[in-house]
Amino acid sequence: MGEEKLSFQTEVSRLLRIVANSLYSEKRIFLRELISNASDACDRLRYEAITEPALIEDDPEFRVRIELDAEARTISVADNGIGMNRDGLIADLGTIARSGTSAYLEQMSGDAARDMALIGQFGVGFYSAFMVADRVEVVSRRAGEEQAWRWASEGLGEFTVGEAERDGRGTTVTLHVRDDEDSFLEPGTLRGIVKTYSDHIGLPIVLVEDGNEDTVNEASALWARPRSEIAEDQYKEFYRHVGHAFDEPWMTIHWRAEGTHEYTTLVFIPSQRPFDLFNPERKHAVRLYVKRVFVTDDCAELLPQWLRFLRGLVDSEDLPLNISREMLQNNPLLARMRTAIVRRVLGELAKKAEAEPESYAAFWENFGSVLKEGIYEDAENRDEILKLARFHSTTGDGPVGLDAYVERMKEGQEAIYYIAGEELEAVRRSPQLEGFRARGIEVLLMTDPVDEFWIPGVGTYADKEFKSATRAGADLADIAVEGGDAADGDDDAVDRGRVDSVIAMFKLALKDEVKDVRASDRLTDSAACLVADEGDLDINLERLLKQHRQLDTGFKRILEINPNHALIRSLAEAVGKDATAQRLSDTAWLVLDQARIMEGEKLPDPAAFSRRMCEALARGLEAG
Ligand SMILES: Nc1ncnc2c1ncn2[C@@H]1O[C@H](COP(=O)(O)OP(=O)(O)OP(=O)(O)O)[C@@H](O)[C@H]1O
Ligand SMILES: [Mg+2]
Repeated sequence: MGEEKLSFQTEVSRLLRIVANSLYSEKRIFLRELISNASDACDRLRYEAITEPALIEDDPEFRVRIELDAEARTISVADNGIGMNRDGLIADLGTIARSGTSAYLEQMSGDAARDMALIGQFGVGFYSAFMVADRVEVVSRRAGEEQAWRWASEGLGEFTVGEAERDGRGTTVTLHVRDDEDSFLEPGTLRGIVKTYSDHIGLPIVLVEDGNEDTVNEASALWARPRSEIAEDQYKEFYRHVGHAFDEPWMTIHWRAEGTHEYTTLVFIPSQRPFDLFNPERKHAVRLYVKRVFVTDDCAELLPQWLRFLRGLVDSEDLPLNISREMLQNNPLLARMRTAIVRRVLGELAKKAEAEPESYAAFWENFGSVLKEGIYEDAENRDEILKLARFHSTTGDGPVGLDAYVERMKEGQEAIYYIAGEELEAVRRSPQLEGFRARGIEVLLMTDPVDEFWIPGVGTYADKEFKSATRAGADLADIAVEGGDAADGDDDAVDRGRVDSVIAMFKLALKDEVKDVRASDRLTDSAACLVADEGDLDINLERLLKQHRQLDTGFKRILEINPNHALIRSLAEAVGKDATAQRLSDTAWLVLDQARIMEGEKLPDPAAFSRRMCEALARGLEAG
């Protein structure tokens, strides 16, 4: 079989164009990427060899060899890991297989700066080789197979695959260094890069120079070393390797549990939000090791879903090395580790929230919506997570915790008020908040879809009930308006009887369109707003359910009108006078429709709205 020519997946071609144009400033990271892949390949084989020892019998010592040939202008990185066969080479080096990545890359626009920002979030892995090379060859032989294969490409849309020879299993990646990248042909440069970026790798990285072999790194598992001996930079580079990440760790948690069960945990919280955080196929990013041997990065039992932003690993001394996937399920040891790790992570977060509130706020922006899933999924840790939760609110500019909220509650205030919606700024402008502002009552602004799910389940915090500001039950009447300008005491307050007749007129005009019409103490500036009845779905939740087609017909709303608003006053004057019934009814409809618009809802009959609006405007002009 000769050589075959194949095309890269479209997304890879786009990625390569950016890489080849060297928009990446840190070219030297190509070596880190190749070493990281080599180390992963060795990890995977080491695990397979536990059940199939013959795979590594002839060559049991895993290592990475970097060889430099200045004359031929090549650098090669060779490992004796699991290797790739023909299909593997085509799939792994011709497409981007990581779940969700492909969909993500489809967003690439061709606009270099924007695309760079996208790529910067997940890096370019193997393809970074083309930053310094104008031709890359990969010769690989899969462990347990006889035939080796060569993959080669100039990084321009196509690659070739054909048969090759290789002594033993593993992969050799050879870079033909570009003319203007001579510095990478110096042994000192390569040694420096390995020291900086790959010192933490747990297998020997050997540099071959003039026939001499020299192990450049420490070659012991980083997490097994005492904390005091690990520099921050080493943690950082390890995080990037183990987490396939390109940012800095926001928090590093490293400890060894001793006693009946021994295990080491080294987990990181990223400082940036990974692009695939909400991808349901996303693998758990915390790896499981047993006695320094990589077992799996797909162990759902190790950590709860709501901590899925964690990166890193757990290394157990007590689990059996040849543990199977079935054995991992319902494993009591694993369950105990999970409980301890969750507790530790929540504890560290609590400390950070206390000590560095600003930095904590940044964490919360990134991952708060994920952590909040734990409030309803994990009864055991609910209280802890509630304490950690932060919200935007109508007062103050920083995020607020529930403890701080409760402490600031007004005299006479019994409940924790919140308003839920999709967009922060829109929610902030909701008319339903006017009465709260007038009374100086803080309202939490909830804009994550998960909020709608945990609030009903939790119900109270510190014995205070959560109440939606868009519900009828938000009883503000008992709390004094700030500045003493209480609506009731107002001299020109419309008299109650007149308001009642306006309400009666509204009910007559709107009939079944609303559940009820009431005078509001929630409004100060707007004429009207919609609220949900006590037992009904919250307005925002209803909207969410409709979007997801889980609800066809909505609940009827209560229309609240503001007796002190000029429009309602004029209506009160007009009722019972010579104004025609039709005009009053049109006005009632206009009031309802504009309340709907403020809710961000679609009007059921925009044409009727427009006709009524035009007539009212025309009348206004005639009168003026
Ligand atoms: N030395 C190697 N030995 C075996 N397989 C390899 C090797 N190098 C790359 N691969 C395969 O090619 C795939 C693509 O590598 P690439 O570095 O682009 O992505 P990745 O390592 O999966 O993720 P990241 O973008 O974080 O590096 C790997 O997932 C692996 O399956
Ligand atoms: Mg990689």
